[in-house]
Amino acid sequence: MSSKENFIWGVATAAHQVEGAWLEDGKGLNIWDAYSHTPGKITNEDTSAVACDHYHRYEEDVDLISDLGVGGYRFSISWARILPDGKGAVNQKGIDFYNRLIDGLLAKGVTPFVTLYHWDLPLALQMEDDGWLSYRTAEAFARYAEVCFEAFGDRVKHWMTFNENWCTAVLGNGTGLFAPGRVSDDEPYIVAHNLLLAHGLAVKAYRDGHYEGQIGIANNCDFREPLTDSDEDRAAAQESLEFFYGWLTDPVVFGEYPAIMRERLGDRLPEFTPEQKQLLKGSADFLGLNHYTTHYASRTDQVENAVSSEDGNGGISDDQQVVLSSDSDWPVTSMGWFVVPWGFRKMLNWIHERYNGLPIYVTENGTALANNDVETAIDDTERAEFIQSYTNAMKEAIEEDGVDVRGYFCWTLMDNFEWTRGYDMRFGLIFCDFETLERTPKASYYAYREIIQSS
Ligand code: NOJ
Repeated sequence: MSSKENFIWGVATAAHQVEGAWLEDGKGLNIWDAYSHTPGKITNEDTSAVACDHYHRYEEDVDLISDLGVGGYRFSISWARILPDGKGAVNQKGIDFYNRLIDGLLAKGVTPFVTLYHWDLPLALQMEDDGWLSYRTAEAFARYAEVCFEAFGDRVKHWMTFNENWCTAVLGNGTGLFAPGRVSDDEPYIVAHNLLLAHGLAVKAYRDGHYEGQIGIANNCDFREPLTDSDEDRAAAQESLEFFYGWLTDPVVFGEYPAIMRERLGDRLPEFTPEQKQLLKGSADFLGLNHYTTHYASRTDQVENAVSSEDGNGGISDDQQVVLSSDSDWPVTSMGWFVVPWGFRKMLNWIHERYNGLPIYVTENGTALANNDVETAIDDTERAEFIQSYTNAMKEAIEEDGVDVRGYFCWTLMDNFEWTRGYDMRFGLIFCDFETLERTPKASYYAYREIIQSS
C-alpha cells in the first residue's frame, strides 16, 4: 500500500459464529440461539451451540491470528454474555472473557477492532420489547455500549457500533430469513430507524466519555453497475446503492435518509426529529464496508441472467424499482455470489465521493467454498485468487483513484457458523473440523500472509 503506517491488514470473525459456549459462564440466550434451535431454519439443522468453541480455544486462535501476520483482528462482543437479559445486571465472567482475548491480542501486537452488535440480540429484548421494532432496544443498546466502553475502552481504540444493519432490517424483519424471522414490507424501515438511533446514542456516550479512539459503523453493500448507459439504468443503479448503503449510512453522516427514499416511501419511512438529526449527523469517524458481490441494475425487466430479488434486494426490491442481473462470464461462489473485483473498486469510489472522503475500512471481504473434506478444502486456490484480485482492486482505488481506505479485514479467520447456511458454507482461511474442532490453515491463509508481507 502507498502509506504503510496508515493501513492495517486484518482478519474478522463474529461472536455468535465462532464462540459456542452458548450456556456457559452466565451468558444469556440471544435470538440466534433460539432461531438456530428452531427446526427447519438452518441447513442440516446445525446449531451454533458449539460453533468453533472459540470461547475455550481463543488462545490457540490468537496464535493463528498472530502467525497470519495481520495487524488487526475484528471480532464482536456477545451482548448476552455481558448483559444476559439485555439490560439488567452485568455478567463479570463475560467481561473477563473479552479482557483475556483483548489482552492476548495486544500481547502479540494485534490491534483489536471491536463490533458491538453482530446480530445476536439478547432474547429477552426480543420477547419483552419486540427487539428492534422498539426504541427501548435502542436505549438498551446504548447502555450495553457504555458498559463495553468502560470495561474495554482503555485498550480498544477502534469500535464499530453495528454490523450490516441492512441484514438485520431486511433479512431479520423483511424476508424472515434471519432471526427473528419476521416477514413484512414495512418493518425493515422501522428496525433500521431504531438501529440508527441506537448508533447515535452509543456514539454520543462514547464521545461524552472522552475515550481516546475512533468509532464507526460497518455497513454492507453490493455494487450496482448500470446495465446500459441509458439515463434510466444509471438512475436505477444509483438509487439502488442509495437504498442499500445510503439508507444506513446517509443518516450517520448527513443526519437524514436519502431523498429518493423519502420521496418514494412517504410515510412508510420513519422521520427523524430535529434533535435526532443532530444526534446522528457526523456520528461516524469512519465508514466500514462489508463487500461481497456486484450486480447490473436496470429499470427494464428485459434482461438476460436476471438475479432473483431474494438474492439481490431482499424484501425491499419493489420499493427500489430496479431489476438486477449478472454477466454469464462472471465466476460464481458457493453462496451464488458473483466475483467482480472491479465492482469493489467502483464501490469504494462511490463511498468516497458520496461521503466526502470520510476514511473507509473494508471491514469484510471474502468468499465461500462448500467443501467439508479437509484434504481438498485446504487446497483453496480459488479463495487465494479471490483475495488477490479483490485486494488488487482496492489497491487501485487507493493509489490511482485516491480513495482513503485505512484497512482491509478478510472474512474470515476460520470456517464458522454461517447463519442460516450452518456449517455448510466455509468462508475460512483456516479449516475447522466441526467434530474434532481441529484447525488447519488452508493455502489461502499462507497466500494472504504473502499478500500482507509483500504490500
Ligand atoms: C457478512 C456477515 O457480517 C458475516 O457474519 C457473514 O458470515 C458473511 N457476510 C458471509 O456471509
